[in-house]
Amino acid sequence: MKKELVLEIIQGRWSPYAFSQQPVKEFKIKAMFEAAGHAPSCFNEQPWMFVYTTCEDEAVFNDYLGFLADSNQIWAKNSWALIITLARTKFMHNGKPNRFALYDTGMAVANLSLQAMAFDIYIHQMGGFSVEKVREYFRLGDDVEPVSVMAAGFLGDGRELSPEILRKDEYRRPRKSVNDYTFKDKLYNPAF
Ligand SMILES: Cc1cc2nc3c(=O)[nH]c(=O)nc-3n(C[C@H](O)[C@H](O)[C@H](O)COP(=O)(O)O)c2cc1C
Repeated sequence: MKKELVLEIIQGRWSPYAFSQQPVKEFKIKAMFEAAGHAPSCFNEQPWMFVYTTCEDEAVFNDYLGFLADSNQIWAKNSWALIITLARTKFMHNGKPNRFALYDTGMAVANLSLQAMAFDIYIHQMGGFSVEKVREYFRLGDDVEPVSVMAAGFLGDGRELSPEILRKDEYRRPRKSVNDYTFKDKLYNPAF
């Protein structure tokens, strides 16, 4: 498939460091979460959960910021919203472990980040956060797994960021060629 055939919204998505705190209307945030809910999932379990706050709620926003690694706090503090992604790791219908819980949750996040792009809202996912702090804060049982934290908002000018961080936004991160990860007939046999 030619690269130009890939949907613009997919090609245009990236994870910025320079966010602005320009308010995002609630109906857009709601649409992003609704988009997440359209993802497929094993047994239609829909194991994802999201808990979010915006910088309007200063105390809660600061609590959420405190979950993040210092290297992420530095820039994520300028975002409009912080979203915590959780996954229920046991099936509702029989209580057995759901080994697809994180997979399905990732698909929901992909939907969310593309829906956000339709509004010119950017998502920057983070694995650099304290799982334990999130567990404690929300009193999570062992059937709920903190997966990621996302910063969300419109692009900013990055004025408050160090040159090192700002430089990261100057280029798009490189992608492997489709043949590096897609094979035909035999594993590692380039497909195209
Ligand atoms: C699960 C996950 C964890 C990530 N953790 C971090 C993080 O802690 N800090 C960070 O700055 N970026 C983080 N990222 C962003 C990635 O570095 C970024 O998506 C990747 O370099 C590709 O760049 P792009 O999203 O701009 O295309 C994470 C992304 C994912 C999906």
